[in-house]
Amino acid sequence: MKGIILAGGTGSRLFPATFAVSKQLIPVYDKPMVYYPLSVLMLAGIRDIALISTPRDLPAFKALFGDGRELGLNFTYIEQPQPKGIAQAFILAQDFIAGDNVALILGDNIFYGSGLEEMLLRASALEEGAEIFASRVVNPAAYGVIGFDDKGKPTRITEKPSKPASPWAVTGLYFYDSQVSQIARGLKFSARGELEITDINNAYLEKGLMRVNFMERGIAWLDTGTHEDLIKASTFIESIEARQGIKTACLEAIAFEKGWIDRAALLKRAEGMKGTPYGDYLLNCDAEGLWK
Ligand code: G1P
Repeated sequence: MKGIILAGGTGSRLFPATFAVSKQLIPVYDKPMVYYPLSVLMLAGIRDIALISTPRDLPAFKALFGDGRELGLNFTYIEQPQPKGIAQAFILAQDFIAGDNVALILGDNIFYGSGLEEMLLRASALEEGAEIFASRVVNPAAYGVIGFDDKGKPTRITEKPSKPASPWAVTGLYFYDSQVSQIARGLKFSARGELEITDINNAYLEKGLMRVNFMERGIAWLDTGTHEDLIKASTFIESIEARQGIKTACLEAIAFEKGWIDRAALLKRAEGMKGTPYGDYLLNCDAEGLWK
């Protein structure tokens, strides 16, 4: 399975913070925002990753991840010249996907919680159809919202409905079979001028090929849309890291645990960040004998 991180857009809701920097590179507590969605793809076992961003921001992502080898990954970079919707990613990345199954995650979506890795591994084993993740929110009108029939079966997803049919929002994490590029090519632009991911999801729902995974209590889906959301997300990550002494979205640790990099490669990365909480975390874990 291939993975796509969509990190485009102008970040206009965060101006002037994003005048010159991609939103997805702004730190959430101690690491760039994009580390969090990348960690999700890695936990799902995905190593071939395309990062899609604007012509302005792509060089900065390349400086951050390079070819991905240091993390046991294989990175491809794809330009999105203009933001024309999430579903456009599957057209832009068609050569990269090359008939494989594919997961897409939005570069500003943060997930944290117990049972997440198992949920991701199940989804990435998908053979046919699609898997999406729903989370209960207090402001569903800001998202794609799932409607249900009287037996509780998902019937239709509506993008930013004025009267939400339920509190269940569709999160920015999607798994599809190889049909997705073809479905994306057949889409029409919506009223807001975008190729909508919701239209792709409804196409799978109508065919009875969509599985909705509910992120119940115990899994947090964090917003990063406003400055207040960003501070809250940073504080959340800081609290759990400080309390447990465990780093979230620690890419080197995940790569090691998956068997994609060895101890020497991990320590080389750690040494390069010595004296920072992130680097020292990796070095301290080594002193405790974790990287064996
Ligand atoms: C997009 C999708 C929406 C989804 C949301 C998750 O919204 O269109 O269905 O619920 O991501 O973050 P947008 O970022 O375009 O507002």
